[in-house]
This record gives sequence, C-alpha cells and structure tokens, in this order.
Amino acid sequence: DDYQLGNYSNFMHKEIWEQPESVRRTLLGRLDERFGTARLGGINLDPRALRAIRRVKFLGCGSAYYAGQIGANLVEEWARLPADAEPASELRYRNPVVEEDTLYVAVSQSGETADTLAAVQELRRKGGQVIGVVNTVGSAIARECGSGVFLHAGPEVSVASTKAYTNMAVCFAMLALSLGRVRDLSVSDGSRIVAALDALPARITEVFAAEDEISAVAKEHSGAERMFFIGRVRGWPVAREGAQKLKEISYVHAEAYQAGELKHGPLALIDPGMPSVVVVPDDELLVKNIGTIEQIKARGGPVIAVTNASLPSGLADSVIQVPRSEPELDPILFTIPLQVFAYHLAHHLGRDIDKPRNLAKSVTVE
Ligand code: AGP
Repeated sequence: DDYQLGNYSNFMHKEIWEQPESVRRTLLGRLDERFGTARLGGINLDPRALRAIRRVKFLGCGSAYYAGQIGANLVEEWARLPADAEPASELRYRNPVVEEDTLYVAVSQSGETADTLAAVQELRRKGGQVIGVVNTVGSAIARECGSGVFLHAGPEVSVASTKAYTNMAVCFAMLALSLGRVRDLSVSDGSRIVAALDALPARITEVFAAEDEISAVAKEHSGAERMFFIGRVRGWPVAREGAQKLKEISYVHAEAYQAGELKHGPLALIDPGMPSVVVVPDDELLVKNIGTIEQIKARGGPVIAVTNASLPSGLADSVIQVPRSEPELDPILFTIPLQVFAYHLAHHLGRDIDKPRNLAKSVTVE
C-alpha cells in the first residue's frame, strides 16, 4: 500500500524507470568478484551437488517463460549444459519425463500463477528437483518450491511486467554463472561477467537518456496495425518479449519470429504496412542480421533496428541505439528500449496502460 505513483502518470512508466535500482537490489550481496562467480543463498548446493546437475529446465508463463529462455541460453553458453524453457501451462498437461539430475526452475513474479504452480506440483510428485525464482515472498509457488531465489524487484503493479522480468533474467545470469564456474568457465570469464552485471544498472540508465528518441520512433509507427519482431539466438527472447509488451498494452498485433525462419513463410506478410523491429546485437551474427534487414527492405517493409552496432547509414528506417555491455548480457539490456517503445506507442494510442483489456496481473485460475 505504500507503493505510490509519485510523479509518474502510471505504474508501467514508474516500474520501467525503477529498473536500475531493482537490478541493483537483486545483485546485492550475490556477486563474488574475487572468484568471478555468484552466490544465490536460496540454492544450498555445494559445488559437487551443483556439478551433479546435468540439465536445466525453466518453467513459467508469458513473460516469465521468455525470461526463462534467456536463462536457458546462458546456462548452455556458460555451463555447457543442455537447457531449455517451456511454458508451464503446457508442461502441466504433458506427461513429462522427470529426471533426477535435472534442475527445474519455476519462474513467477506473483508466485500465484495457477499453471506454474500446477507444473511445480506435478514435477515434485514425480521426484523432480524444483527451485523457485519468484518475486513475492510467501506466495504459493515460493512455498511449494521450498527453496529458491527471490527477485527483490519490489511491488509490480502494472499488468505488463517490466522490472520483475529484468530481474528474472539477471537472476538466471547469476545461476548460469554459478553453474558455469563449477565446470569449465574460467575465473577470468567469470570476472568479466561479474563486472558486466555490476555495471548493468548504469547501462540501463543510459537507455533512458534516449527515451525521447524512442518515443518519436514509436509515434512514427503508431499507425501500424501489425508488426514483426525479429531476432536470432540472443535476440530471439528479446523479440518475443518486445512483441509481448506491444500487443499487451497497445493491442497492435505483434508477432515475433526467428530471423532465419522468415523465408519459410512469414516473408509473405511483409509490405509497407508491416514494420519489423529487428534486434541487431554487435556480435558474431551481425552480418546475418544485416542480411535480414536487407531481405525485409527489398520487399518494401519498414525496419526499426534495435542495435548497439554502427549500422550502415540508410540501412534501417529508424534506429534505436542500445548501450554496449558484454554480448551475453545483450538480451537483458536490449529488452529495456523495447519496453519503452511499447509504452510510448500505447501512450500515443491513448491506451489504459496499467490495466489493458482482458488481462489480469496474475492469472490464478486456469
Ligand atoms: C507480462 O507482461 C504478462 N502480464 C504475463 O505474461 C505474465 O508474465 C504471466 O502471466 C506470468 O505471471 P507471473 O510472473 O506472475 O507468474
């Protein structure tokens, strides 16, 4: 009840702007600079037990599921363990193979999402090792899991998740780092990641410096009835979350696609009325992503590039510039300008941003 709007006109805007502080809170006391690792108190596993984990599976719904995909990519990259993310709403109705050496990570802001809770119960019934990554202390999922990590995002009121989403991804980075450091990730790589995590709040603040420009890009495209969000590998969860934010609060039809899949069908939808937001990190896939932009442009589609690279001038119609971090953390940082983009586009359309139609903050029924 103490959580007030202050000078903000709605909670989504306030919660977007709180992210440097909420990321700082979730990192607090969890980074170990000396050994280039992270310690998550809620996961009481010694190095031997950590090493015994052979697979990691992230479970959540909606944005929590997309955040899980960032986590799965990081576990694979740093710990070299097979990892994936699955919507908890699907798992509960499958008959999943539950393995003893898999770590199941149940992810939820509210801790009350019925589908996620049911998935946890099913996994536990089958002897699965489940930890919770939850924002709300004392919530049903936190209690059911027994052990896990709290997000420390503070209260999140807006239906569209922003700061809790970002903290989920940051916590997964710490989990992946701790799994990596008991395997083959070197101390120098670990230290590089610790330093980048520590600097993340400052990088997020830099995103906000471009808010007016992002708002102008959003305004320019606010007449579009549909949009693509395109990314590959690290950019793929970014595209999914960007599309999720836009459709949730603006009611513009937004669809996320992996860049390489475009030519297998969706390219047919490209025309001047279908802008594409393309996620272009300055990493080993830069040339591929530039190729994707060219394919879209060749078919008359407007392109909004979200990038930390210096793209050839005139390549994209609009550019949203993102600060640089370590490439593995790009998915976390790149999502922030897309939150700002969705926010301003919905604002230009006059939507009820904190309470979009047909949606509830937490889905406690099936
Ligand atoms: C996010 O913007 C959405 N409102 C929604 O997808 C949400 O993330 C999902 O319902 C899961 O909620 P939870 O994190 O509270 O479990």
